[in-house]
Amino acid sequence: MSEGSKPRLLRALAGETLDRPPVWFMRQAGRSLPEYRELRTRAADFIAFCHNPEMAAEATLQPMRRFPLDAAIVFADILLIPRALGQEVWFETGEGPRLGELPPLESLADQIEASTGRLSDIGETLSRVRAELEPDRALIGFAGAPWTVATYMIEGRGSDRSGARTYAYQHPEELDRLLDILVESTARYLVMQARSGAQVLKLFESWAEGLAEDVFERIVIRPHIAIIEKVRAAGIDTPFIGFPRGAGALVETYAAKVPVQAVALDTQASAALGRKIQAGGKTIQGALDNLLLRAGGPALDARVDALIEQWNGGPYIFNLGHGVLPDTPIEHIERTIRRVTGR
Ligand code: CP3
Repeated sequence: MSEGSKPRLLRALAGETLDRPPVWFMRQAGRSLPEYRELRTRAADFIAFCHNPEMAAEATLQPMRRFPLDAAIVFADILLIPRALGQEVWFETGEGPRLGELPPLESLADQIEASTGRLSDIGETLSRVRAELEPDRALIGFAGAPWTVATYMIEGRGSDRSGARTYAYQHPEELDRLLDILVESTARYLVMQARSGAQVLKLFESWAEGLAEDVFERIVIRPHIAIIEKVRAAGIDTPFIGFPRGAGALVETYAAKVPVQAVALDTQASAALGRKIQAGGKTIQGALDNLLLRAGGPALDARVDALIEQWNGGPYIFNLGHGVLPDTPIEHIERTIRRVTGR
């Protein structure tokens, strides 16, 4: 690949400092776009949508047609894995995910091998998108990280995670076993995604907050390392972005110990913290407040400029600190991309 066509995102992930950072947005495919809402009415439910490669590829490409983004992220969800392992998962309209009772760990373990095949639709989505996407725009695959996925499996819904943390203290062996099952199924899923066209793999640890250092080591750091080692052992050298959202000061420990190429930072990350991670040899991504993107105005412009000023002296990917909110005005997204890219 000539330097001219190597996607800007991959150059940043290889450690290059660029004239301007690559830009994409978490949750760029989805409810903030009217064309997504129209497409969504054609699927029976959200899970059926994710498992329909034609529709999921279309949802992945919608923001790419509308905006000059540097990367697409495959349209899927972190809760497809528990479903593939045999736990019931559905989405209550307007409320979010619901899961059936946690199956016995032995039965989940028995389903690991079969789970990858049950997720082959997502591989098909990735191949379709890669075939259509311009060569200078990268395609990102992803999975939920084990602890975050486990919180949903244990609690049966989105929550404040207190039930899952209590389970972690009361049933440490069971939790470790569940995390090991998720490490194995997630590693296989990511290998399949890379073989299907994903050029970057992202681990969403959306619920890394509130964990004491020893617990963070055990349920966040250790499983992330294990997944990446398994993916590498399968011969896949695709770069990883790790997103330990809410980890606070422990992000530094995460960056030092987990062999990701980039660390995605949340809204709270300081300029100094980001620069320290860059100095340690890693690319950083983030960390515009999704509420500021929605609010717009001079404060948005000023923050976009400040993020670039503080972090683009090293390898940096422009993004949010958490996903685009559904009622974000499209003009604010356009304006932000223009400010970052000059396009
Ligand atoms: O654009 C993209 O980023 C790609 C697609 C994507 C979705 N979910 C689509 C989706 C990605 C990367 C995710 C990740 C995801 N899913 C996370 C981690 C990131 C984060 O935001 O913290 C989590 C925790 C989930 C679980 C999940 N899925 C929840 C809690 C919900 C309901 C609430 C919500 O935010 O919408 C979903 C549903 C979901 N996932 C939708 C979309 C487009 C909305 C479903 C619909 O259209 O009805």
